[in-house]
Amino acid sequence: MEKYAIIGGKPLMGEVEIGGAKNAALPILAAGVMTDDIVVIENVPDVRDTNVLMEAMESIGVKTEKISRHTVRMDSSKITECIIDSDYMKRIRASYYMIGALLGKYKHAEVPLPGGCNIGVRAIDQHIKGFRALGARVEIKNGNIIADATELRGTHIFLDKVSVGATINIMMAATMAVGKTTIENVAKEPHVVDLANFLNSMGANIKGAGTDVIRIKGVEKLHGTEYAIIPDQIEAGTYMVAAAATKGDVLVKNVIPKHLECITAKLLEIGCSVIEYDDSVRVQGNGILTNTQIKTLPYPGFPTDMQPQMTVALGIAAGTSIVTESIFDNRFKYVDELISMGASMKVEGNTAIITGVEKYTGANITAPDLRAGAALVIAALAAEGESTIDDIKYIERGYEDFDSKLRALGGNIERYASEDELRRARLKLVQ
Ligand code: EPZ
Repeated sequence: MEKYAIIGGKPLMGEVEIGGAKNAALPILAAGVMTDDIVVIENVPDVRDTNVLMEAMESIGVKTEKISRHTVRMDSSKITECIIDSDYMKRIRASYYMIGALLGKYKHAEVPLPGGCNIGVRAIDQHIKGFRALGARVEIKNGNIIADATELRGTHIFLDKVSVGATINIMMAATMAVGKTTIENVAKEPHVVDLANFLNSMGANIKGAGTDVIRIKGVEKLHGTEYAIIPDQIEAGTYMVAAAATKGDVLVKNVIPKHLECITAKLLEIGCSVIEYDDSVRVQGNGILTNTQIKTLPYPGFPTDMQPQMTVALGIAAGTSIVTESIFDNRFKYVDELISMGASMKVEGNTAIITGVEKYTGANITAPDLRAGAALVIAALAAEGESTIDDIKYIERGYEDFDSKLRALGGNIERYASEDELRRARLKLVQ
């Protein structure tokens, strides 16, 4: 099982290039099946989640070809079935985007109930409510969600809870419904907007993505397109916080600074310098970081996917900080690991109370999920001494070349898979 070995204490310095957004790539790849024409998608991150989704699509007859590492050519003209195998679903939650895409185009989808990162209860009632409102019959049988319809009909849907997944799934299905659909109280994340732009480039008629209300005029057919995915807001934010926590100086390139404003604002508040350019941001973690309060919220609020990374930075900031997680109910599992690295934190319900310590110390720790795993890597890079991080398969679900990008910034990090490799990795790590 692959792990990272890290010797911390060295400021990260230099430039890092951000890839395409994983959480945009997943629905965009799924939506690519909604036409029989060729679809070419650029800037697809080469991470486990996108690769597993492509395997799942191949299994139903979609031909996916990587023209280059980040460009995927899709041909969905010979889809043989609308049933996704449960193996894929266990490996990535996002295969549930195949429900909206297949239901929209073929009026039938059978997809196992989703797995994904264990960060709390992850209901799908709003997805089902939306499909039913569009006229689909939806039932859950033997662990599968089965949705079918003779015809989908445009309607008015009010989401009880702001949900990225439900907004995306309903938007895809409604794109090929008869008539107009209005979805209210929708998620406004950049990846929701990116999917709407992608569908529009295929001939859909979607307006309002990025606001609270999305209006869709159904179309009969979608056509092929060439489309480039937006940069990853969370990958960028992770490197920004890594620069802050290691007191480094990093230029994070190929980003949309507007998408990073909520992260930039918090970094400025805790004493970092952040300079925005047209498509990059420079973060300098000068001097002592100071405490703040953070509450995760749907976009444009502070993203739950940046909560663990920011908590790591606050763990070594002077004073007492409070972090409230309002999206998921089990997203502080990494705190115990941080405590073993010397952090002073306690979790009460959905709130972490953090008393900043001067520094972390290296420890043998385990990544509990994707973002928490990345956060623990940041802690280890900032810590004094050596750490090992187990279960990095979670991190590799969403971060491309994480170790090599960090090494290019001067981070002492090596990936290894056996005790032998660990010995070799140790020799490479700069003491
Ligand atoms: C997406 O998950 C992301 N995943 C998550 O990123 C991200 O943390 C989350 O949005 C919030 O931004 C992908 O894009 C693949 P939600 P999703 O539906 O769609 C409740 C990462 O690290 N809810 O917005 O599953 C739900 O329980 C991953 O990249 C319902 O009650 O999130 C949660 O409390 C982890 N009923 C809240 O809404 C529903 O039908 C937000 O969930 C749907 C959701």
